[in-house]
Amino acid sequence: MMRVISIVSTKGGAGKTCIATNLATHAASLRGQKTLLIDIDPQGSSIAWADNREETNLTTITTPTNRLDKVLSSAKDDGVSTVFIDYPPHGDPNVTIAARQSDLIVVPCRPSSSDLQAMGATIEVIQFVKKPAVLVLNAVPARGTLEAEARDVLKATGIDLFKDSIGDRVAFIRAFAAGQGVIEYEPKGKAAKEVKALYTYINKKIKS
Ligand SMILES: Nc1ncnc2c1ncn2[C@@H]1O[C@H](COP(=O)(O)OP(=O)(O)OP(=O)(O)O)[C@@H](O)[C@H]1O
Ligand SMILES: [Mg+2]
Repeated sequence: MMRVISIVSTKGGAGKTCIATNLATHAASLRGQKTLLIDIDPQGSSIAWADNREETNLTTITTPTNRLDKVLSSAKDDGVSTVFIDYPPHGDPNVTIAARQSDLIVVPCRPSSSDLQAMGATIEVIQFVKKPAVLVLNAVPARGTLEAEARDVLKATGIDLFKDSIGDRVAFIRAFAAGQGVIEYEPKGKAAKEVKALYTYINKKIKS
């Protein structure tokens, strides 16, 4: 069965593209699973990233949101096992409707007051689409109390919160510039470990 995982946040720069490209490269590396990354952001960050890579089990495409259902049904016919959708940073109604076609919504959030304040708009999207969702703290500094403070705020939303975090790591920036996921760039690094843990978590969540 094909799974569709949407990476959504109305906040710009939260880490949607970072999480989408890294989960997609990891999924594609697993027993050669056919993976599709769909960039529905007009900024085209994932598409630009994919320009720098050789085609593997992961294909990256873009589509207008009004064709998403057709793209998803042909992906299914092509034997794609997992689809990741990278969203633009705003609550365009067409984009919200697109999120309805997902099995799970992954919401990255930085541990900053402006990101936390902006979560309200993203939560409205999640509530509207009525799909399971996971909040993920992204770009967390190694030291300090920002993470603990952000966790308290996010827990209060009642939405599932991934127990680990994605760190603020140069590997994510370097890998992205090279058209790679951290799994390819630095397979044994801390960033790769975090991406694997997140993938395992969302996999379980979809199955449950
Ligand atoms: N965990 C991380 N560690 C270090 N840098 C990160 C991390 N996550 C994201 N970044 C960097 O932060 C910037 C914004 O991240 P990204 O493009 O993934 O956010 P986005 O939510 O997709 O933004 P937009 O809303 O514009 O689409 C990028 O330069 C990216 O490399
Ligand atoms: Mg993006």
